[in-house]
Amino acid sequence: MDPPNQCTSMTGNKGAGMAKWILITVIAVVAGAAAWLLTPSPENDSGSGDAPAARSLVGGPFSLLNQDGERVTEADFRGSYFLVYFGYTYCPDVCPVDLQSMSAALDIIEADTLARIEPAFITIDPERDTVEVVNKYVSLFHPKLTGMTGTVEEIDAVASAYRVYARKVETESDSDYLVDHSAIVYLMDPDGNYVTHFSSGFSPEGMARRLEEIVG
Ligand code: NI
Repeated sequence: MDPPNQCTSMTGNKGAGMAKWILITVIAVVAGAAAWLLTPSPENDSGSGDAPAARSLVGGPFSLLNQDGERVTEADFRGSYFLVYFGYTYCPDVCPVDLQSMSAALDIIEADTLARIEPAFITIDPERDTVEVVNKYVSLFHPKLTGMTGTVEEIDAVASAYRVYARKVETESDSDYLVDHSAIVYLMDPDGNYVTHFSSGFSPEGMARRLEEIVG
């Protein structure tokens, strides 16, 4: 099955191409499917967030490099609401649109609400998304946005903790590839617990409203 909200870039990838698929991480499709099952659709979200069971299943410790090459962990974001998006800088469509919407939402909300939020972008393509590449990329969006990358192992670990599905998809050119990945923004509370999520295609106004309700 195809989970909804994926950043899909599958054009031209026919049956024979299936054999070329390479796992970028050891995350099983099952893990991805579990994430879809445990996260209710935004339409069903009440203002109170999700069930405690879901809270414990998304998130966890990580150790990555920020866009300045400094080591950062989940502890650096404690005390703030952590609004995190997983994607990759070479993404041709979905990632830039979602990051733009997220940035627009952050521009809409009240300053004191924004002060309590730490927005972040974590790449799921660490081989190409070096510190320098991520630095340049996040500067295109919101000034508060922290960009993070790491080794393949470090990215595997954080993607797994957040139940993020990602796998490489080869294209016609051997030197290039796309990454098929789940496109979701997670909102974690100041203690690092999952609060809610925003599925790809969310509107800036809708996100801003929810952030004011929850954080403001
Ligand atoms: Ni993408």
